[in-house]
Amino acid sequence: MTAAPSAWLNALPKVELHLHLEGSLEPELMFTLAKRNGLSLPYDSVEALRSAYQFGSLQDFLDLYYQGAEVLRTEADFHDLTMAYLQRCHAQNVMHVEPFFDPQTHTDRGIAFPVIINGICSGLTEGFERYGISSHLILCFLRHLDEAVAFETLAQAEPYLDRLVAVGLDSSEHGHPPEKFSRVFAKAREMGLRTVAHAGEEGPPEYIWTAIKDLQVSRVDHGVQATEDESLLAYLAETQIPLTVCPLSNTRLCVYDRMQDHPILRLLDQGLCVTVNSDDPAYFGGYMTENFQALADALKMTAEQAIALSDHAITASFACEQRKHQMRERLNAVSLPTST
Ligand code: ADE
Ligand code: ZN
Repeated sequence: MTAAPSAWLNALPKVELHLHLEGSLEPELMFTLAKRNGLSLPYDSVEALRSAYQFGSLQDFLDLYYQGAEVLRTEADFHDLTMAYLQRCHAQNVMHVEPFFDPQTHTDRGIAFPVIINGICSGLTEGFERYGISSHLILCFLRHLDEAVAFETLAQAEPYLDRLVAVGLDSSEHGHPPEKFSRVFAKAREMGLRTVAHAGEEGPPEYIWTAIKDLQVSRVDHGVQATEDESLLAYLAETQIPLTVCPLSNTRLCVYDRMQDHPILRLLDQGLCVTVNSDDPAYFGGYMTENFQALADALKMTAEQAIALSDHAITASFACEQRKHQMRERLNAVSLPTST
């Protein structure tokens, strides 16, 4: 079988479940916002900034990511960031998104919680009206910070519960196991929110187990280190707990040296509910289509596998059954490429 071609992959109806809005901040928009807010960046040009995007680990990346987010100050900034991402989604036939935002990255700099969430939500509303892209928003806690400040953030979110579908957990994984936030996640569940968590990106399979058992996540973000634990693989196959996998992120952060080493298609063939996502596309070299394309190029992903991955993302989403049905109809209408 031949690998799926790129125009076909771009046209493939897609769903994105693992995307940090702050990680979709392209250098061009970063410079625009810096100027608008009277800030100066420690780079002379967009090219100089982009060329700094060489990472040896998750922490290398996070240092630049938090620095970049400092240009986000006003409701309009968060709105424009969100709309820029949704424009890219529209161009790549993404039907539905469930983005993350990191309020603590901003509230710690004195930006008020309502400024952040109102700006993002007005962008999501405009994206639906303009492009028909449906969405659900996920609030992530920064795991390198402590439990008490996560509780404070959850309290700030309480008046906005109708705008949130879930809480998540991100930032530096090593040394910050999911169970550090068991009580915060229990409270979030009591408030009616679902839960997801980054686990097994760089960290060990034990973190995936505790994300599932202690945080009771509906999905595991990344989760690729499950390959190191046969019993976990069997459990994930049996329960169909989805993994939101981010291929370009994993190679750019040196989780795998080469895309040829990436396990996603092996996991798909073993019956796990794996999905393709872009994570921080402005930093890692591409959005949804580029991630699918990387799998076609390096792993000879077939059109059938691409459709299966997209179908898993519909299943794994928090969209209502009616919206899932609509999205499946669009996916089922796709014809296989005739030649490559
Ligand atoms: N925050 C933004 N991107 C992240 C990633 N890939 N892992 C953990 N935290 C993040
Ligand atoms: Zn992520």
